[in-house]
Amino acid sequence: MYQRPRRNRKSSAIRNMVEETHLSVSHLIYPLFITHNKKDKSPIISMPGIYRWGTEEVLQEIESCIELGIENFVLFPVVPEEMKSKRGEYSYDENNFYLKSAQQIKARFPHINLMSDVALDPYSTDGHDGIVENGVILNDETLPILAQMSLAQAQSGFDIIGPSDMMDGRIAAIREILDDNNYTNTSIMAYSAKYASAFYGPFRDALDSAPKSGDKKTYQMNPANKKEAILESILDVEEGADFLMVKPALSYLDVIHVLNESFTVPITAYNVSGEYAMVKAAALNGWLDYDATVAETLLSMRRAGANGILTYHAKDYAIASKN
Ligand code: PBG
Repeated sequence: MYQRPRRNRKSSAIRNMVEETHLSVSHLIYPLFITHNKKDKSPIISMPGIYRWGTEEVLQEIESCIELGIENFVLFPVVPEEMKSKRGEYSYDENNFYLKSAQQIKARFPHINLMSDVALDPYSTDGHDGIVENGVILNDETLPILAQMSLAQAQSGFDIIGPSDMMDGRIAAIREILDDNNYTNTSIMAYSAKYASAFYGPFRDALDSAPKSGDKKTYQMNPANKKEAILESILDVEEGADFLMVKPALSYLDVIHVLNESFTVPITAYNVSGEYAMVKAAALNGWLDYDATVAETLLSMRRAGANGILTYHAKDYAIASKN
């Protein structure tokens, strides 16, 4: 045998030297759920270890994450039913607790990178990402609302706007309103390849935002398709996206790979709620080594080509990598 690949694995020094992919806390974006209460820390049953935070308590939570080296956060609002409507007007209301919370967070921690979520579903009585009329999700009528929501978020200090709605043309609509109002420095991370996935279940529990009727298959992508992810990405880059996201991550590593090969903007992966729940549940049953599984899972997303990873494991990973 002239080639014995095991020679390059014979010591940890050699293994480290030939290591191709690196993962560190700086790659991670930590999602946080915010409620309209000041004091709140309510557990999400289907996501053990993840909480809905009050606007005051979240400041302490962010501070403890910063101490662990986490610098990137994405916020999601848990909107009370009485503030929801068909067109989600509360999403850009000046009294919106989510926008106020972002202002407080950026005032207290100006150096962190804070990302938003843009879609109607947290604010919608229909639980859909766009306006619903006679069972149809209206595309062009939804765009101005998404644009207004994005502007309100930029005005509240969000560094990156994160449209997760999958309406056609939304990146252009958002880029235009931001630029017209001099928010040329506010970035857009497009949920470009967002699939109609069963893995969002626990997130919808957290927000109480599941569709009241029908499913999201007329706007989120068919899990069978890969070329469509390239089409969505071409459009998003043309329309002004600074990052392209693939969501979910684990069952879509091939999509992350092809987008990373095909585009020059950074690719991010969303390691979603259901993926978190699977690993957490197995670990809580003693069936998997949690820290090792998380590290391997996140590394696989990096190896596939993701720069940044949105993951509910971020804090656990940061704690484990300190020890
Ligand atoms: C809503 C949105 C969803 C997620 C992020 N933004 C749910 C959905 O599209 O139904 C899911 C995130 C997760 O599962 O962790 N636009």
